[in-house]
Amino acid sequence: MSNFVFVGPPGSGKGTQAKLLVKNHGFLHLSTGDMLREHIRQGSELGLEAKKFMDAGNLVPDDIMIGMIKTDIVAANEEGKPVILDGFPRNLTQAKFLDRMFEENDLDFSGIVSFDLPDEVLLERLTGRRSCPECGYSFHVIFNPPTKEGICDNCGHKLIQRADDTLEKAKNRLIVYARETEPILAYYADENRLLHVDSVGTPDEVSARLHDLLGVSV
Ligand code: AP5
Repeated sequence: MSNFVFVGPPGSGKGTQAKLLVKNHGFLHLSTGDMLREHIRQGSELGLEAKKFMDAGNLVPDDIMIGMIKTDIVAANEEGKPVILDGFPRNLTQAKFLDRMFEENDLDFSGIVSFDLPDEVLLERLTGRRSCPECGYSFHVIFNPPTKEGICDNCGHKLIQRADDTLEKAKNRLIVYARETEPILAYYADENRLLHVDSVGTPDEVSARLHDLLGVSV
Protein backbone atom coordinates (compact mmCIF):
# COMPACT_ATOMS: atom_id res chain seq x y z
CA MET A 1 0.00 0.00 0.00
CA SER A 2 1.29 3.49 -0.68
CA ASN A 3 0.87 7.16 0.06
CA PHE A 4 -2.25 9.24 -0.58
CA VAL A 5 -2.95 12.96 -0.45
CA PHE A 6 -6.35 14.24 0.69
CA VAL A 7 -7.36 17.59 -0.78
CA GLY A 8 -10.66 19.31 -0.16
CA PRO A 9 -12.24 22.45 1.15
CA PRO A 10 -12.33 23.09 4.91
CA GLY A 11 -14.99 20.90 6.51
CA SER A 12 -15.21 18.39 3.66
CA GLY A 13 -14.41 15.48 6.00
CA LYS A 14 -10.73 14.83 5.21
CA GLY A 15 -9.75 14.50 8.87
CA THR A 16 -12.76 12.36 9.80
CA GLN A 17 -12.07 9.89 6.97
CA ALA A 18 -8.31 9.83 7.54
CA LYS A 19 -8.82 8.91 11.20
CA LEU A 20 -11.11 6.01 10.19
CA LEU A 21 -8.44 4.68 7.81
CA VAL A 22 -5.76 4.96 10.51
CA LYS A 23 -7.92 3.00 12.95
CA ASN A 24 -8.82 0.22 10.50
CA HIS A 25 -5.85 -0.02 8.11
CA GLY A 26 -2.67 1.21 9.80
CA PHE A 27 -2.16 4.33 7.72
CA LEU A 28 -0.19 7.14 9.29
CA HIS A 29 -2.21 10.37 9.23
CA LEU A 30 -0.11 13.49 8.71
CA SER A 31 -2.44 16.47 9.09
CA THR A 32 -0.65 19.79 8.74
CA GLY A 33 -3.51 21.50 10.61
CA ASP A 34 -3.12 19.09 13.56
CA MET A 35 0.67 19.49 13.48
CA LEU A 36 0.36 23.28 13.60
CA ARG A 37 -2.18 23.12 16.44
CA GLU A 38 0.22 20.88 18.38
CA HIS A 39 2.96 23.50 17.94
CA ILE A 40 0.55 26.16 19.25
CA ARG A 41 -0.37 23.95 22.22
CA GLN A 42 3.31 23.54 23.08
CA GLY A 43 3.96 27.29 22.65
CA SER A 44 6.77 26.75 20.13
CA GLU A 45 8.12 29.64 18.05
CA LEU A 46 6.68 28.04 14.90
CA GLY A 47 3.29 27.75 16.62
CA LEU A 48 3.25 31.39 17.70
CA GLU A 49 4.08 32.53 14.16
CA ALA A 50 1.51 30.19 12.54
CA LYS A 51 -1.32 31.11 14.94
CA LYS A 52 -1.68 34.63 13.52
CA PHE A 53 -2.43 33.22 10.07
CA MET A 54 -4.58 30.31 11.23
CA ASP A 55 -6.86 32.34 13.50
CA ALA A 56 -7.63 34.64 10.58
CA GLY A 57 -8.36 31.66 8.30
CA ASN A 58 -5.39 32.41 6.02
CA LEU A 59 -2.61 30.10 4.85
CA VAL A 60 0.60 29.81 6.86
CA PRO A 61 3.65 30.85 4.73
CA ASP A 62 5.20 28.12 2.55
CA ASP A 63 8.67 28.17 4.13
CA ILE A 64 7.19 27.27 7.53
CA MET A 65 4.99 24.53 6.07
CA ILE A 66 7.66 22.91 3.90
CA GLY A 67 10.20 22.81 6.72
CA MET A 68 7.63 21.22 9.04
CA ILE A 69 6.34 18.45 6.78
CA LYS A 70 9.47 17.18 5.04
CA THR A 71 11.13 15.10 7.76
CA ASP A 72 7.88 13.51 8.89
CA ILE A 73 6.96 12.10 5.46
CA VAL A 74 10.39 10.57 4.93
CA ALA A 75 10.50 9.16 8.49
CA ALA A 76 7.06 7.55 8.12
CA ASN A 77 8.04 5.86 4.89
CA GLU A 78 11.28 4.61 6.41
CA GLU A 79 9.12 2.91 9.06
CA GLY A 80 7.20 1.26 6.20
CA LYS A 81 3.92 3.02 6.98
CA PRO A 82 1.72 4.33 4.16
CA VAL A 83 0.92 7.99 4.72
CA ILE A 84 -2.28 9.97 4.31
CA LEU A 85 -1.23 13.56 3.83
CA ASP A 86 -4.15 15.77 4.88
CA GLY A 87 -4.02 19.54 4.29
CA PHE A 88 -0.79 19.60 2.30
CA PRO A 89 -0.29 20.71 -0.46
CA ARG A 90 -2.50 23.79 -0.37
CA ASN A 91 -1.08 25.75 -3.30
CA LEU A 92 0.99 25.16 -6.43
CA THR A 93 4.33 25.92 -4.73
CA GLN A 94 3.62 23.21 -2.15
CA ALA A 95 2.37 20.74 -4.80
CA LYS A 96 5.55 21.13 -6.84
CA PHE A 97 7.72 20.81 -3.72
CA LEU A 98 5.92 17.57 -2.83
CA ASP A 99 6.48 16.09 -6.29
CA ARG A 100 10.20 16.88 -6.07
CA MET A 101 10.44 15.46 -2.57
CA PHE A 102 8.77 12.17 -3.51
CA GLU A 103 11.00 11.84 -6.55
CA GLU A 104 14.24 12.62 -4.66
CA ASN A 105 13.39 10.15 -1.90
CA ASP A 106 12.05 7.51 -4.29
CA LEU A 107 8.66 7.40 -2.56
CA ASP A 108 5.51 5.93 -4.06
CA PHE A 109 2.71 8.45 -4.53
CA SER A 110 -0.50 6.63 -5.51
CA GLY A 111 -3.16 9.26 -5.78
CA ILE A 112 -4.63 12.58 -4.83
CA VAL A 113 -8.15 12.28 -3.49
CA SER A 114 -10.38 15.31 -3.90
CA PHE A 115 -13.27 15.53 -1.41
CA ASP A 116 -16.18 17.09 -3.31
CA LEU A 117 -18.96 18.92 -1.46
CA PRO A 118 -21.15 22.03 -2.06
CA ASP A 119 -20.27 25.21 -0.08
CA GLU A 120 -23.58 25.40 1.84
CA VAL A 121 -22.93 21.99 3.44
CA LEU A 122 -19.36 23.00 4.31
CA LEU A 123 -20.40 26.00 6.40
CA GLU A 124 -22.89 23.88 8.35
CA ARG A 125 -20.22 21.27 9.06
CA LEU A 126 -17.56 23.82 10.08
CA THR A 127 -19.65 25.93 12.43
CA GLY A 128 -21.10 22.82 14.16
CA ARG A 129 -17.72 21.15 14.64
CA ARG A 130 -16.38 20.61 18.14
CA SER A 131 -12.73 19.55 18.38
CA CYS A 132 -10.58 17.90 20.99
CA PRO A 133 -7.52 20.06 21.76
CA GLU A 134 -5.86 17.03 23.38
CA CYS A 135 -6.06 14.23 20.76
CA GLY A 136 -7.30 16.08 17.65
CA TYR A 137 -10.55 14.11 17.20
CA SER A 138 -13.48 16.11 15.90
CA PHE A 139 -17.23 15.77 16.33
CA HIS A 140 -20.31 17.63 15.12
CA VAL A 141 -23.11 18.87 17.35
CA ILE A 142 -25.74 17.37 14.99
CA PHE A 143 -24.10 14.99 12.49
CA ASN A 144 -21.57 13.27 14.72
CA PRO A 145 -22.22 14.13 18.38
CA PRO A 146 -19.97 12.71 21.11
CA THR A 147 -21.56 10.14 23.43
CA LYS A 148 -21.38 12.59 26.33
CA GLU A 149 -22.10 16.21 25.38
CA GLY A 150 -18.95 18.37 25.22
CA ILE A 151 -16.56 15.48 26.02
CA CYS A 152 -14.21 13.67 23.62
CA ASP A 153 -15.13 9.99 23.09
CA ASN A 154 -11.52 9.16 22.30
CA CYS A 155 -9.67 10.65 25.30
CA GLY A 156 -12.26 12.18 27.68
CA HIS A 157 -10.97 15.76 27.30
CA LYS A 158 -13.32 18.79 27.08
CA LEU A 159 -14.23 19.70 23.48
CA ILE A 160 -13.81 23.24 22.09
CA GLN A 161 -14.87 25.22 19.03
CA ARG A 162 -11.77 26.08 16.97
CA ALA A 163 -11.08 29.83 16.62
CA ASP A 164 -11.29 29.48 12.83
CA ASP A 165 -14.66 27.67 12.88
CA THR A 166 -16.79 30.78 13.50
CA LEU A 167 -19.03 31.72 10.54
CA GLU A 168 -16.90 34.73 9.57
CA LYS A 169 -13.58 32.82 9.64
CA ALA A 170 -15.08 29.77 7.94
CA LYS A 171 -16.32 31.95 5.05
CA ASN A 172 -12.82 33.42 4.64
CA ARG A 173 -11.30 29.91 4.59
CA LEU A 174 -13.61 28.94 1.72
CA ILE A 175 -12.48 32.05 -0.23
CA VAL A 176 -8.82 31.21 0.46
CA TYR A 177 -9.44 27.60 -0.64
CA ALA A 178 -10.98 28.68 -3.95
CA ARG A 179 -8.16 31.14 -4.65
CA GLU A 180 -5.08 29.22 -3.46
CA THR A 181 -5.91 25.51 -3.33
CA GLU A 182 -8.39 24.77 -6.13
CA PRO A 183 -5.75 25.43 -8.84
CA ILE A 184 -3.80 22.36 -7.66
CA LEU A 185 -6.72 20.16 -8.71
CA ALA A 186 -6.16 21.15 -12.34
CA TYR A 187 -2.41 20.55 -11.91
CA TYR A 188 -3.01 16.97 -10.70
CA ALA A 189 -5.87 16.31 -13.17
CA ASP A 190 -3.55 17.20 -16.07
CA GLU A 191 -1.23 14.43 -14.96
CA ASN A 192 -4.09 11.93 -14.46
CA ARG A 193 -3.40 11.57 -10.75
CA LEU A 194 -6.68 12.95 -9.40
CA LEU A 195 -9.38 10.76 -7.82
CA HIS A 196 -12.73 12.16 -6.67
CA VAL A 197 -14.86 11.11 -3.73
CA ASP A 198 -18.41 12.40 -3.38
CA SER A 199 -18.43 13.62 0.25
CA VAL A 200 -22.19 14.16 0.56
CA GLY A 201 -23.84 11.73 2.97
CA THR A 202 -23.07 10.24 6.35
CA PRO A 203 -19.48 9.54 7.44
CA ASP A 204 -20.15 5.80 6.89
CA GLU A 205 -21.47 6.35 3.37
CA VAL A 206 -18.44 8.47 2.44
CA SER A 207 -16.14 5.93 4.07
CA ALA A 208 -17.57 3.10 1.94
CA ARG A 209 -16.99 5.13 -1.27
CA LEU A 210 -13.46 5.98 -0.18
CA HIS A 211 -12.59 2.36 0.59
CA ASP A 212 -13.72 1.39 -2.93
CA LEU A 213 -11.66 4.19 -4.43
CA LEU A 214 -8.47 3.34 -2.51
CA GLY A 215 -8.94 -0.38 -2.98
CA VAL A 216 -8.96 -1.26 0.73
CA SER A 217 -11.59 -3.49 2.35
CA VAL A 218 -14.00 -1.96 4.90
P1 AP5 B 1 -6.78 22.28 8.76
O1 AP5 B 1 -6.89 21.86 10.13
O2 AP5 B 1 -6.14 21.40 7.74
O3 AP5 B 1 -8.21 22.75 8.29
P2 AP5 B 1 -9.01 22.53 6.93
O4 AP5 B 1 -8.32 22.06 5.72
O5 AP5 B 1 -9.65 23.85 6.78
O6 AP5 B 1 -9.84 21.33 7.18
P3 AP5 B 1 -10.71 21.05 8.39
O7 AP5 B 1 -9.91 20.42 9.46
O8 AP5 B 1 -11.45 22.30 8.76
O9 AP5 B 1 -11.81 20.09 7.75
P4 AP5 B 1 -11.80 18.54 7.35
O10 AP5 B 1 -11.93 18.43 5.87
O11 AP5 B 1 -10.68 17.79 8.01
O12 AP5 B 1 -13.19 18.13 7.99
P5 AP5 B 1 -13.53 17.28 9.29
O13 AP5 B 1 -13.29 15.84 9.03
O14 AP5 B 1 -12.93 17.86 10.51
O15 AP5 B 1 -5.97 23.68 8.66
C1 AP5 B 1 -6.23 24.75 9.55
C2 AP5 B 1 -5.36 25.93 9.20
O16 AP5 B 1 -3.96 25.57 9.28
C3 AP5 B 1 -5.51 26.48 7.77
O17 AP5 B 1 -6.60 27.38 7.65
C4 AP5 B 1 -4.15 27.18 7.58
O18 AP5 B 1 -4.11 28.40 8.29
C5 AP5 B 1 -3.19 26.23 8.28
N1 AP5 B 1 -2.63 25.22 7.36
C6 AP5 B 1 -2.78 23.88 7.41
N2 AP5 B 1 -2.12 23.28 6.41
C7 AP5 B 1 -1.53 24.27 5.70
C8 AP5 B 1 -0.72 24.30 4.53
N3 AP5 B 1 -0.39 23.16 3.87
N4 AP5 B 1 -0.29 25.49 4.07
C9 AP5 B 1 -0.60 26.65 4.71
N5 AP5 B 1 -1.38 26.70 5.81
C10 AP5 B 1 -1.84 25.52 6.30
O19 AP5 B 1 -15.13 17.51 9.32
C11 AP5 B 1 -15.68 18.79 9.59
C12 AP5 B 1 -16.95 18.62 10.45
O20 AP5 B 1 -17.94 17.90 9.73
C13 AP5 B 1 -16.72 17.82 11.75
O21 AP5 B 1 -17.53 18.38 12.74
C14 AP5 B 1 -17.19 16.39 11.41
O22 AP5 B 1 -17.66 15.71 12.55
C15 AP5 B 1 -18.30 16.67 10.41
N6 AP5 B 1 -18.39 15.64 9.36
C16 AP5 B 1 -17.35 14.99 8.76
N7 AP5 B 1 -17.83 14.14 7.82
C17 AP5 B 1 -19.19 14.26 7.83
C18 AP5 B 1 -20.26 13.67 7.09
N8 AP5 B 1 -20.00 12.77 6.11
N9 AP5 B 1 -21.53 14.06 7.36
C19 AP5 B 1 -21.80 14.97 8.32
N10 AP5 B 1 -20.83 15.57 9.07
C20 AP5 B 1 -19.55 15.22 8.82
